[in-house]
Amino acid sequence: MSKNPGFFITLEGIEGSGKTTQADYLFSFLKEANIPCFLTREPGGTPLGDRIRELLLNPKSGVIDPLAETFLFEASRREHIKQIIGPALGEGKVVICVRFTDSTLAYQGYGRRVPLSYLYYLNDITTEGIMPDLTVLLDVEPQVGLSRSFSHTSEEELRFEKEFLVSKEFLWAVRDGYLRLAQEYPERFLVIDTTNRSEEEVFAMIQEVVWQRLRGRG
Ligand code: TMP
Repeated sequence: MSKNPGFFITLEGIEGSGKTTQADYLFSFLKEANIPCFLTREPGGTPLGDRIRELLLNPKSGVIDPLAETFLFEASRREHIKQIIGPALGEGKVVICVRFTDSTLAYQGYGRRVPLSYLYYLNDITTEGIMPDLTVLLDVEPQVGLSRSFSHTSEEELRFEKEFLVSKEFLWAVRDGYLRLAQEYPERFLVIDTTNRSEEEVFAMIQEVVWQRLRGRG
């Protein structure tokens, strides 16, 4: 949990699960309710983070060693925590972040088999223990998600998608990893199966839980 006066919400899930759309809905909803909030994403969110994002997602980077890849995600996260997320939570804002530490556990850990103990340690020192208060996991059938993602992602950001086309097991392992994390931390995770739900139905479920949690904090 965040040790700050703010409230930290992350959205997680494989490609094409609808995270960005739902994060946009949530941000607009909170703004209309006059709740101070901030919307951001990983990798990225700072000038250096955005440059690291380009390196990580551009297919031109080719195959990256899993540990080197992990360090790049963590470097982006470190900047993000110090410059953006930590200060916003300190000011009492609701911070909505598309992807965070669970992405590293799911993709680099369950997907690429970097030992989870390394990743928990790196996440912990990078974030100084700042953890999401609520994580919304949008679950989707990998095949459905992947084809959605190909249709709305620019060529310069398709490095992971292209790899998933060749190695379906990687994508299934990431999805399975997310579901395991949700089982491990049921008090933090809200899991929504989006495969046969409209965007509006999914958002209604998120809205209800966010509202309850924010009210619970007074
Ligand atoms: P996206 O912003 O379009 O979701 O792309 C981000 C990609 O980076 C996605 O394939 C997931 C991956 N990723 C990791 O592998 N580890 C991480 O820690 C994060 C934040 C993202």
